[in-house]
Amino acid sequence: MPKFLSVNIDHIATIREARKVREPEPVAAAILAELAGANGITVHLRQDRRHINDSDVHLLRHTITTSLNLEMAVSQEMVAFAKSVVPNMVTLVPEGANELTTEGGLNVDGRLNEVSEAVSALRSSGILVSLFIDAKVEQVKASRRAGADFIEFHTGPFADAFELHRADALEQELSKLHDQTILATKSGLRVNAGHGLNYRNVKLISSINGIEELNIGHSIISRAALVGIDSAVRDMLALM
Ligand code: PXP
Repeated sequence: MPKFLSVNIDHIATIREARKVREPEPVAAAILAELAGANGITVHLRQDRRHINDSDVHLLRHTITTSLNLEMAVSQEMVAFAKSVVPNMVTLVPEGANELTTEGGLNVDGRLNEVSEAVSALRSSGILVSLFIDAKVEQVKASRRAGADFIEFHTGPFADAFELHRADALEQELSKLHDQTILATKSGLRVNAGHGLNYRNVKLISSINGIEELNIGHSIISRAALVGIDSAVRDMLALM
């Protein structure tokens, strides 16, 4: 069973950016998530700064009391930024300019030199480094060679199979995640998982031994919006 939940609060900033105003404030969401028991806060600082921006990350660094996980692309600019913030963990992800969300795992095997350099630069500042990868043997082995502390398995294909009720694909994805978690932990890597996890599918992923932390964003922020509507409307009516 995973022991930790890191809540991805990017979508709070997405709502703020829809109006380019000051609310909702990601730091406020982070603190409420912590008060509810979250073990960490995750943000993705995209190169296009479409939601979380540099100042959000600095503010979070100075306010949250749990663990800050910064997701970012493999680039010299991002590595320099991370070294100026010193989050507890950096998760290196692939980033496409036109994607709605992260679309696949990082090709560590194909970008070994570049990824290894980023890993070593970040680790030299005392930052734990995780690599967001597909649950494939070659990516797990390459992550070990790159010197990462953690890997985060991309659970998107598992989540898709679950939503589409594709029993065979679901079985296949779960067994890949299970087998690659064993391979990773045996080779000294620690294992996280995330992407597409929600209130319906999380139990299945939680049953995999060896996964330490789940990173969950969209489903938690979506539910927060819905369960919060009742009191938000009542509060407004009371003021009117
Ligand atoms: N892990 C990584 C590396 C991600 O890029 C994302 C999405 O930003 C997540 C986890 C969270 O995914 P979701 O929002 O679908 O829960």
